[in-house]
Amino acid sequence: MKRPIMAGNWKMNMTPAESVVLSQSISNRYKGSWDKVDVVLFPPSIDLRSVFTVLDFDKSLIEVGAQNVHWEPSGAYTGEISIPMLKDVGCTWCIVGHSERRSMFGESDMDVNRKVIALTDAGMNAIVCVGESLALRESGDATQFVCDQVKAALAGLDAQEAAFVSIAYEPVWAIGTGQTATPEQAQQMASAIRSTVADLVGQEAADAMRILYGGSMKPANAELFLACPDIDGGLIGGAALKVADFVELVNQAVASAR
Ligand code: 13P
Repeated sequence: MKRPIMAGNWKMNMTPAESVVLSQSISNRYKGSWDKVDVVLFPPSIDLRSVFTVLDFDKSLIEVGAQNVHWEPSGAYTGEISIPMLKDVGCTWCIVGHSERRSMFGESDMDVNRKVIALTDAGMNAIVCVGESLALRESGDATQFVCDQVKAALAGLDAQEAAFVSIAYEPVWAIGTGQTATPEQAQQMASAIRSTVADLVGQEAADAMRILYGGSMKPANAELFLACPDIDGGLIGGAALKVADFVELVNQAVASAR
């Protein structure tokens, strides 16, 4: 297993004041062994400055990321946030193409690709989300669909740029539902994703790329996912808002990294 990533996607939860409490509580539970894992918190953008300040004060190795970004550096894009703004508040990571953004906010494969290119050009880490709906899973076309999402997201990248990219496989039907993919389904998809990445940017870059599972990951089910040969961590929603659960998930990733 590569160096795991345990990423907490807070989605649209936590006020700035609440974000201070949650990030401080997680930071207080930081252990030296966590240096084996990239632990990244993804609060709402209005909380980024506060969360970074808490972690910076603690000299924590926990990193901060944004849930979304615009590809242009500045301009007339009301409501949007740019990469220079994210860097200014200490962000080193960004989620791109989450299924909630694709389905509710019309984010296209082309938008995802523009964001990935802008982030990698800026030397920021991108976690690209891919995943199929239940209908696609049942039709048997899930693998093709997900690999096409990967191809679109990484179009035009070379191996060096791909080093800044991780991919989160999040089956839409497993997000926030309490239902997970089976570890076999997740491994099969992660392996197909890695082959697709190899076709795009070469085997070496594909072997180095970290692929995460997301979708109702919890302490009770994470171990089996983290044991899959092609899964290198988790993108965690609901359980990332509970200090004890998130800490336990990071500890499991530390154990799997040994
Ligand atoms: P849940 O862990 O709440 O299912 O959310 C997963 C997710 O969408 C993370 O990005």
